[in-house]
Amino acid sequence: MQDTVTPVLLGADLNCYSMARAFYEAYGLVSRVFGREELGPIRASRYCHFTRVEGLSDPAVCRAVLLHYAGTEPGRTKLLLPCTDEYAAILIQEKEALEPEYILPQPSRDALALFEKTAFYRLCGEWGIEVPETEVYEGSISPARAMESGRRLGFPYIVKPSSSIVYWHHPFADMQKVYLVHSAQEAADIVNRIYASGYEGEVLAQRYLSGGDSAGYVLTLYFDREGRCIARAAGRVLLEERTPRGRGNYAALLSVPVPPIAERLEEMLHSVHYRGFANFDLRENGPGGKLLPLELNLRQGRSNHFLTAGGINPAILLCEDYILGRHLPRVDMTAPLLFRTVPFPVVYRYTEDRVLAERARELHRSGREGNPWNARSDLIGNPRRMLYLTMHNWRERKKFRKYCAEERGI
Ligand SMILES: Nc1ncnc2c1ncn2[C@@H]1O[C@H](COP(=O)(O)OP(=O)(O)O)[C@@H](O)[C@H]1O
Ligand SMILES: [Mg+2]
Repeated sequence: MQDTVTPVLLGADLNCYSMARAFYEAYGLVSRVFGREELGPIRASRYCHFTRVEGLSDPAVCRAVLLHYAGTEPGRTKLLLPCTDEYAAILIQEKEALEPEYILPQPSRDALALFEKTAFYRLCGEWGIEVPETEVYEGSISPARAMESGRRLGFPYIVKPSSSIVYWHHPFADMQKVYLVHSAQEAADIVNRIYASGYEGEVLAQRYLSGGDSAGYVLTLYFDREGRCIARAAGRVLLEERTPRGRGNYAALLSVPVPPIAERLEEMLHSVHYRGFANFDLRENGPGGKLLPLELNLRQGRSNHFLTAGGINPAILLCEDYILGRHLPRVDMTAPLLFRTVPFPVVYRYTEDRVLAERARELHRSGREGNPWNARSDLIGNPRRMLYLTMHNWRERKKFRKYCAEERGI
């Protein structure tokens, strides 16, 4: 494999690093990484060969860079994977142009609309899959309009963009992934600020599903080259990142049995001839309630190391399927596992649900845990990486101390 295959990854974040680690651990492969800037997670890593490309999120630039690179490595099989939504959308759009040079384990254009939460919710509706009650705004709103939403959804409610790709192209001060609004005025203000930034998509007002971090779940499905779903894994959120932009990124997960809703979601994706990884965010509809999907990411999740640590290495799925042409048996992840990207004391201290925190401690103590950062083959004899990891851990402790203290008003 080492002499013939190169994984090519777009992005430079923890998603990218975790995939590069999976390829390295499975086959000793070093990934070729293209990104707009070299972010912390891949810095000084042996797993990645990074090239900085300004304007990589412009589809024409991305296509040109990838085709040029392919020309420099003619004899090798190149497996191309996106590590952010933006690159996932570009690769789906550019599939025909890139396919002569690359293997793209990705859905076709039929799935492109699903990057929009509104389109995803519509498809769920067609399949009888319940989603949180949602209203759609197409432009700025008055406080009276926000009040109508409040009457229907109850206060507080969630405000979030339908298209996160377009949203992040229009930055503004104090921008967040999602907003929890407590009054009509607050709702109208935030919706209007989003539109004032130049965002031209839809904005959603959504019923708030209460319950803290541990009401969140994540589900990953892998559809092979023939469209069979051959791997499934589910996790329960213990802790989300706390920075305004990081909320919704998982700092710790606990493995759980694949929930029943996975069957329906799988059938639904079959209907759009899905290929590759599908990653859903789900949330309990009230304490102990049934799981409702919040969104679909058309790529492997940022927490894909959760799969590797749980015995389903995503690089092996991809290579066995697309490169070795094998038919893998269907598998559900069942290993008891704590996944974390932050030091264990942070998980234990800030997980609100104490029963889950104790469970996490048991798994930690018995070594049944995975952390993408703790990669022996990347740390041993690599002082720059060690130093970076020490700093990362220190920063995480500080961030949680700061933001959790603010939340609790201490
Ligand atoms: N209706 C909701 N009720 C409670 N929390 C929500 C709701 N919608 C989103 N969130 C929170 O915000 C995070 C991000 O929302 P999500 O819909 O996954 O959008 P994205 O990841 O594209 O920003 C979720 O993981 C969850 O923590
Ligand atoms: Mg999400």
